[in-house]
Amino acid sequence: MSHHYIKAKDIHYRYPDGNEALRGVSFLITHGERVALLGRNGAGKSTLLLQCNGLLLPTAGEMNIGGMPVVKDTLPEIRRSVGMVFQNPDDMLFMPTVEEDVAFGPLNMHLPLKDVEERVAEALKAVGAYDLRKKSATQLSGGQRRRVAIASVLSMMPSVLVLDEPTANLDFGGRRDLIRILKSFSHTQLIATHDLDMARQLCSRAIVLADGRVAVDGPLEETLADPTTRRILEID
Ligand SMILES: Nc1ncnc2c1ncn2[C@@H]1O[C@H](COP(=O)(O)OP(=O)(O)OP(=O)(O)O)[C@@H](O)[C@H]1O
Ligand SMILES: [Mg+2]
Repeated sequence: MSHHYIKAKDIHYRYPDGNEALRGVSFLITHGERVALLGRNGAGKSTLLLQCNGLLLPTAGEMNIGGMPVVKDTLPEIRRSVGMVFQNPDDMLFMPTVEEDVAFGPLNMHLPLKDVEERVAEALKAVGAYDLRKKSATQLSGGQRRRVAIASVLSMMPSVLVLDEPTANLDFGGRRDLIRILKSFSHTQLIATHDLDMARQLCSRAIVLADGRVAVDGPLEETLADPTTRRILEID
């Protein structure tokens, strides 16, 4: 088994308009760990997740996935290893049908057609969206689109899963199914969320971002009870 850790070393990121969204973020998430990434709106969570699969490259510092630095030259390999579920599923679905969306990644990996079909069916069944396979994403509800977006990542069998607000728009059943899916995925996961109940069910550790910096990093329950975290997240 390979060791798919996520290592961030003093990551800085400045958007082209000059906005400094990350100001020196460091952590090590080891193989198989499930970590909640918490923080108020604008804290830098999405910006940080986009660094994990190289959609954004740091202005300074280094991101490393399982021994591979996230740099321009490694992007094809990084994209195969790191499955990213975006905050908005519409950013991920662009093919005429659901099954083509879910097949897109495996086809790009040049897998034999039979293997692609198997992966597509398996991933859609895992998220309870197999019956939707012939539909267009535009015909689906928000929660159904999110399920399909997750399937489109699972079909690539990534070593690391990075999810941005995965429970947004899901109904109770969808949320429960998602938590079950993520629990059954034994690899490394980094989950940005405002859903503290889901974080409690899934994660043993929390990283709290504030103004582009790691404010708290520790065991989840301890972190949520910590007065600094509660002040930052405005829980009380
Ligand atoms: N494309 C962009 N261009 C310029 N600034 C941006 C861009 N996207 C985000 N930002 C800024 O970067 C900072 C961090 O934003 P980010 O989207 O990472 O926050 P977040 O923690 O994911 O928030 P939320 O909980 O609302 O999803 C914010 O100040 C935001 O305004
Ligand atoms: Mg965000």
